[in-house]
Amino acid sequence: MRITSLKIDGYKNLENVEIRPDEKTNIFYGENAQGKTNLIEAIWICSGVRSFRSTKDKYIIGFDKEKFSIELKYHDGEREQVIYAGALKQNYKDKKITINGVKVKNMAQLFGRLKCVVFTPEDLELSKGSPDIRRNFMDLSISQVKLSYSSVVEKYENVLQQRNALLKNISFGGASVDMLDIFDEQLAKLGAYISMLRYNYVKELQQFAAPLYDEISKGKEKLMLQYQSTVFENLEGRTDYADKMAKEYYDAVRKNLDIDIKSGFTQVGVHRDDLIALLSGLYARDFASQGQHRSIALILKLAQGYILTKETGDPPVILLDDILSELDRSRQEYVISKIKKMQIFITCCERSSILSNGKVYCIENGKVKKAAG
Ligand SMILES: Nc1ncnc2c1ncn2[C@@H]1O[C@H](COP(=O)(O)OP(=O)(O)OP(=O)(O)O)[C@@H](O)[C@H]1O
Ligand SMILES: [Mg+2]
Repeated sequence: MRITSLKIDGYKNLENVEIRPDEKTNIFYGENAQGKTNLIEAIWICSGVRSFRSTKDKYIIGFDKEKFSIELKYHDGEREQVIYAGALKQNYKDKKITINGVKVKNMAQLFGRLKCVVFTPEDLELSKGSPDIRRNFMDLSISQVKLSYSSVVEKYENVLQQRNALLKNISFGGASVDMLDIFDEQLAKLGAYISMLRYNYVKELQQFAAPLYDEISKGKEKLMLQYQSTVFENLEGRTDYADKMAKEYYDAVRKNLDIDIKSGFTQVGVHRDDLIALLSGLYARDFASQGQHRSIALILKLAQGYILTKETGDPPVILLDDILSELDRSRQEYVISKIKKMQIFITCCERSSILSNGKVYCIENGKVKKAAG
């Protein structure tokens, strides 16, 4: 996967950006508040995933601009594809989005085409933050290799919401417990399937991440990743998601019925599960240092990129926003050595000497200029 041409205008502070990226390394340097993250973000939203900064649509268009447009051409290993997104400020909700000239409904419809792995300073939260961040990471990563998975997660969330609403209704005496059954059966089937896929994904992550962590810590610490299910004791080798697993899931949900009704919330299920990282046996979330959190998050993302490459046969585009400055020199070199076969877009405040090949661009006040080699 490789971006061959990028034109952005009016996306936040970016103005008349027109670049033909290098096949491998693209470095964007500039002072604070010049538009580096905006550029990474503009590429990222073309992959059909919500912005990591979750900007409201209204604020996508530059304050003093009438419209925004992004045209991104990429090669997916077979052919060149063109993604276009644009909108007028007066009608910002009505975006025009096309793939190879064919109109699609919204940005989410772009998902599954341009595959990127993004790493931003916020990703530290992947190791440190609350479980929902790690659940999102697992779900997004699985969806990247198995497109149909995202609609299963969406259905699960839908059913869960309806179930929780019904629980509240039951506690007020407005509905009977019998009505739960239809939701619980659906929840069990979808939840069992999600558990199975997440478990297998984490197992694969572990296979890639453990040796990577070994290297980054120079063998001093061992990283161990585990899927923590609130329903299943052991998911190893299980495939009977439509049958026995669904039954167990159903029973586990039902076991908590009284508390569920009292609290108006479903106690167990994949919406409470987590991806646990242990460093030499200790829970990273509680015990890791800042640097260890950073390394874990980075390795999770690297492993995500490797799995994507293995499953699709085509390496993703790597977007690294401002992460080199946070790493010591040896970790910088390590990270670069691990992704140098992929196309990279990397931002930094100062022109780094660590990346000697590829194209270098300077970002100033939303304008991107190619710097002399
Ligand atoms: N809708 C908008 N219109 C115009 N400018 C905007 C809009 N939204 C954000 N900005 C501005 O864009 C500028 C660049 O933001 P960006 O986050 O890309 O900076 P950056 O180069 O990544 O800086 P840093 O090194 O601090 O991370 C900021 O000054 C921000 O206020
Ligand atoms: Mg930034």
